[in-house]
Amino acid sequence: MIFGHKSVLLDETIESLNIKPDGIYVDGTLGGGGHAYEVCRRLGEGGRLIGIDQDADAIAAASERLKEFGDKVTIVRSNYENIEAVLRELGIKEADGIYLDLGVSSYQLDTADRGFTYREDNAPLDMRMDQRNTETAKDIVNNYTESELFHIIRDYGEDRFAKNIAKHIVRARQEKEIETTGELIEIIKAAIPAKVRATGGHPAKRTFQAIRIELNKELEVLENSIDTMTDLLAPGGRLSIITFHSLEDRIVKNRFRTNENPCTCPPDFPVCMCGKKSRGRVVTRKPILPSEEELSENKRSKSAKLRVFEKNRR
Ligand SMILES: C[S@@+](CC[C@H](N)C(=O)[O-])C[C@H]1O[C@@H](n2cnc3c(N)ncnc32)[C@H](O)[C@@H]1O
Ligand SMILES: [Zn+2]
Repeated sequence: MIFGHKSVLLDETIESLNIKPDGIYVDGTLGGGGHAYEVCRRLGEGGRLIGIDQDADAIAAASERLKEFGDKVTIVRSNYENIEAVLRELGIKEADGIYLDLGVSSYQLDTADRGFTYREDNAPLDMRMDQRNTETAKDIVNNYTESELFHIIRDYGEDRFAKNIAKHIVRARQEKEIETTGELIEIIKAAIPAKVRATGGHPAKRTFQAIRIELNKELEVLENSIDTMTDLLAPGGRLSIITFHSLEDRIVKNRFRTNENPCTCPPDFPVCMCGKKSRGRVVTRKPILPSEEELSENKRSKSAKLRVFEKNRR
């Protein structure tokens, strides 16, 4: 299987991790193993990489890609929100670096029958990153209320026609269940003014993104995992996260900031009374963005932002 995926912010992420040859690193969104390959190349005696992905196709592709590193690499099919249990199972107490490269891979987007793409007409409405889950995009499109659809398309898709799109979806499904990507695309097109359709990007792009984020609970999983990942870092260890959506970036920025300074005492207290201790420091005051060169070579890097947190050295 060819996993034609260009890793986003590759050099920047590798550099941010300060890789030690004998360190333990965890990739929470292994994908095709592009970032992982560069981590593994820097590992020597005693170094290990644990790669986690919930997608069976990604696991197969990364296993092939990382084969040459033998038992330095351990690949686990799971959600990164289970990182603590995954590491415990492997007898690992702490990691020198943990990183995430969120969102979908080009492979997921390019494989029509996974249902992620609005470029294909006749795929089932699926969009599951983990094919073991039973709920699919079809369930969301056919069962959510108009108000629920409106909110996810507005908030996760940032689509200014969210209200009308939700209305059109509900109207269409009263006639017939919506089953394919093509059917959904036609409904969305009809909900967007012709003038905008001619000039903007693909009219279904934002709605598809919104449904995918909702179905895979992408924001909840991220929000619930950052503290756990921070706790799992060894002293001086680093957590590097690449986001692709403003809501994701906000979550990372805020969690990192709180973990740097968790004190909740009123500002006029002369000393801290709440006792909440800093877990480390934010390395990136501002997010690291792709270079002009990367932006011109890889469209997927367009909204990418990298933020890095360093655990206390004790
Ligand atoms: C953008 S790709 C990663 C690409 C990889 N860094 C590379 O360079 O090849 C994101 C991957 O993360 C996986 N993924 C997304 N959310 C996940 C989660 N909560 N748990 C496990 N895997 C996840 C997806 O299945 C996808 O394969
Ligand atoms: Zn305090």
